Amino acid sequence: MGQFRACFLNPGSAADWELYALRGEAHIPPMTIRKIARMGHPVLQGVAEAVSEPTAPVILDLVADMIETMEDANGAGLAAPQVYVPQRVVIFQAPGARASAGIDAEEEFDPTAPLTVLINPEIEPVGEELELGWEGCLSVPGLRGLVPRHRRIIYRGVDLDGQPIERRAQGFHARVVQHECDHLDGILYPQRMPDMRALIFESEVKHWLEETNEKVSDDD
Ligand code: NI
Repeated sequence: MGQFRACFLNPGSAADWELYALRGEAHIPPMTIRKIARMGHPVLQGVAEAVSEPTAPVILDLVADMIETMEDANGAGLAAPQVYVPQRVVIFQAPGARASAGIDAEEEFDPTAPLTVLINPEIEPVGEELELGWEGCLSVPGLRGLVPRHRRIIYRGVDLDGQPIERRAQGFHARVVQHECDHLDGILYPQRMPDMRALIFESEVKHWLEETNEKVSDDD
């Protein structure tokens, strides 16, 4: 239904379409690519505030700009503090091509996710299992690091309409959600790394791929 109505609005970009589908109403705010805060800026080190009104226009405008900014930077996710807004809002996507190889018995934990807006998120780890994977971050440009994350999680929050979201995630999907939610608590991925020798420049990833046998994904 959203896309049908959007045809008459002639949205200007793929991001407009995606936001429109998420929001489901005829207001498409203007979108701006915002500056991304880099590691060392205090906005990335504080605890972000809960959003009191998820349906407020200012949140819709923020999310519209976050989507535009993430797509421009070819990222897999973005948290509001990365665009200098210390509020508990994240966006992310986990396309199939980037997901870890799933295990059949775990199908209820989805390794993939569509473009998702999650406001006031909470994460509940499922089980004890951690897995190492390469991460990047738009606030830590040019670098990659091997980071342990919970393999399976349940996450909850609300969307732009204030409706609850609850999903079971694994693999890259679980990883990107954990990475983005860390931003809301002032944590960047290097702080999660047990071995700083695995904090490397992108140009050197080739030396590590055989060892870890893993694809390196886009920045989160
Ligand atoms: Ni990040």
